[in-house]
Amino acid sequence: MKYFFQNLKNNIDFFLRKNLDFSRKNYFVMNEHKDNLFNSKNLKEREQFLFQKYELEFLKLNSSRENYLENLYILDVLDKYLEIDFKVNLNVLDIGCKNWFYAKGEYFFFKKFSENLTLKGIEIDANRLYTNFYTRKEVAQFHIKNLFGAEYIAGDFLAQKEKFDYIVWILPFITKSPLVKWGLPLKYFQPEKMLKHAYESLNPNGKIFIINQGAEEYEEQKKLCGNLGISYQVLDKVDSEFIQYENKRYSIVITN
Ligand SMILES: C[S@@+](CC[C@H](N)C(=O)[O-])C[C@H]1O[C@@H](n2cnc3c(N)ncnc32)[C@H](O)[C@@H]1O
Repeated sequence: MKYFFQNLKNNIDFFLRKNLDFSRKNYFVMNEHKDNLFNSKNLKEREQFLFQKYELEFLKLNSSRENYLENLYILDVLDKYLEIDFKVNLNVLDIGCKNWFYAKGEYFFFKKFSENLTLKGIEIDANRLYTNFYTRKEVAQFHIKNLFGAEYIAGDFLAQKEKFDYIVWILPFITKSPLVKWGLPLKYFQPEKMLKHAYESLNPNGKIFIINQGAEEYEEQKKLCGNLGISYQVLDKVDSEFIQYENKRYSIVITN
């Protein structure tokens, strides 16, 4: 009953978005200069390190200042916290990638560890419109433009049958309230089913890297793994100086 009216509204809005597919097409953001972007020596050095290690010319020349920082954030986190082995053919998935504003960060990280990278991002609410009348899907198409092997999938992860070497899952819905506030119908609140499916979607020695928002969700996330008998490595607090989020972020890694 608590979410009855909000859920009713979410169901109607979601149905309309899914079926009407409004879009202005060809979203584009001009590149911005990156002068004086870092206010500390540490940050400047870290950017130079990541820039060289992951060959970030393309990212730096094709992003707003804000988006450059957002992508450095995800690259920095992956570089610091995810242990990864080189594999010739690497198949990677991001679950719930929204408008995939951080796609380049993920792309250049995983590209470093493979010869042939396939990076997919899946989003169930891809037709959600922004105030500028572009959809998440159109914004995402801009962020993955010219990234060979990157693909945005508008759909439900539970319908996805492929196997992956790495799954990145940033801020999954672990409790009901954030999902309802996000505008999704409650029938899509299936954290246990989603986690089980993600685990079953791994190739041998595959890994799921999960980032949760706040200590409460993190505790719930670990409980969920426990309920399913899935073991995990605890990373606890993960952060990057490139962006300091108000809510602390925590992480686990699941290996099959
Ligand atoms: C809290 S948001 C996180 C978005 C993004 N990862 C980020 O870090 O900004 C969770 C996202 O997961 C998506 N999502 C929820 N259930 C899904 C499903 N079954 N399949 C695909 N995407 C899903 C939601 O629509 C939402 O965009």
